[in-house]
Amino acid sequence: MNHKYIVAISNFAFFPSLRETFFVRTVLTISSYAAAEFIRNGGIVAFPTETVYGLGANVFDLAAIEKIFEAKQRPSDNPLIAHIGELEQIGSLSSDITETASKLIDAFFPGPLTIVLKKNERVPLIATAGLDTVGIRMPRLELAREFLKLCGTPVVAPSANLSGRPSPTTWQAAREDLDGRIDCILQGEAAEIGLESTVVDCTGKFPRILRIGAITFDQLCSVVSEIEQFVEESSETPRSPGLKHRHYSPRANVIVVTSPMTALFKSNSAFIGLNKPEFEFKIMKITDSVEEYAHEVFEFFRECDRHMLETVYCGAVSEQGIGAALMDRIRRAAE
Ligand code: TXA
Ligand code: MG
Repeated sequence: MNHKYIVAISNFAFFPSLRETFFVRTVLTISSYAAAEFIRNGGIVAFPTETVYGLGANVFDLAAIEKIFEAKQRPSDNPLIAHIGELEQIGSLSSDITETASKLIDAFFPGPLTIVLKKNERVPLIATAGLDTVGIRMPRLELAREFLKLCGTPVVAPSANLSGRPSPTTWQAAREDLDGRIDCILQGEAAEIGLESTVVDCTGKFPRILRIGAITFDQLCSVVSEIEQFVEESSETPRSPGLKHRHYSPRANVIVVTSPMTALFKSNSAFIGLNKPEFEFKIMKITDSVEEYAHEVFEFFRECDRHMLETVYCGAVSEQGIGAALMDRIRRAAE
């Protein structure tokens, strides 16, 4: 695409009301250079990572970050993760890199891990939802890192879905939720993992898991000891505010089934799981492994909504490895 053209359309970033009046469709591109140009001009861009697609803005641009909350209809008390393309960028977000953080960075960056550190004063409070900490992640997907490097700044990015909906694992899913609401989508492959990063608070004496995700409990234990698992209290100020909101849900009701052979199923429903039930479903997906189940689950939820199904039954799996994150997402979707 011609670069002058890109700069011209990226100026819509400065006039969101014009975008709404004329229903400006979101620009699709396979060029990380073109996508980064939107970020540099104050726009918001959906981009691929190995976990799920993110919706990015320059971490130091308050107006751009506001647009993310507006486009996603995200509650303002839910903090964003800052994504980096190079390790040196951590220094622009935090000057308090704890020993735990260093170990986790050495072991898992780049990769599907987010570390939470004390933020410096340059990181705006709108990005961290008023917290004095910042989540930092360096994606493993090469296209993501290339895009982030070209942005020339850390990029805050929640998952690129409307708030509460299943996270998008393809650029088409990001477009389904956000077309016309955001400036650009960088079209990559379908996400390799399909579930979000593991979030670990590294500010205290011991690391604390705030959200289990693609890096498993055992992987963390192989690098740091004495890991605490966050237990949700009905506290007014939870440590990971995102956890208290409705999440990952299709419009259909989600029901977890432990024994598909004996469950009583309703019609107009779907099933996903490892073991084939005897009952017939409008849509059914039997996966060969827990990894494949994790990879497919969010797209399956979306597919059920496209068919306007009423109920999605999800076979339970053992909470080993990625199974822990998968069961966490399914339970939250079922809440
Ligand atoms: O894999 C991922 O993490 C994806 C891709 C795009 O990187 N991103 C993602 O972002 O899932 P989001 O916004 O959907 O979820 C971020 C989670 C939320 O539960 C939020 O509360 C938590 O991380 N979080 C972010 N910053 C935090 C902080 N400073 N303290 C505690 N929790 C934080
Ligand atoms: Mg999300």
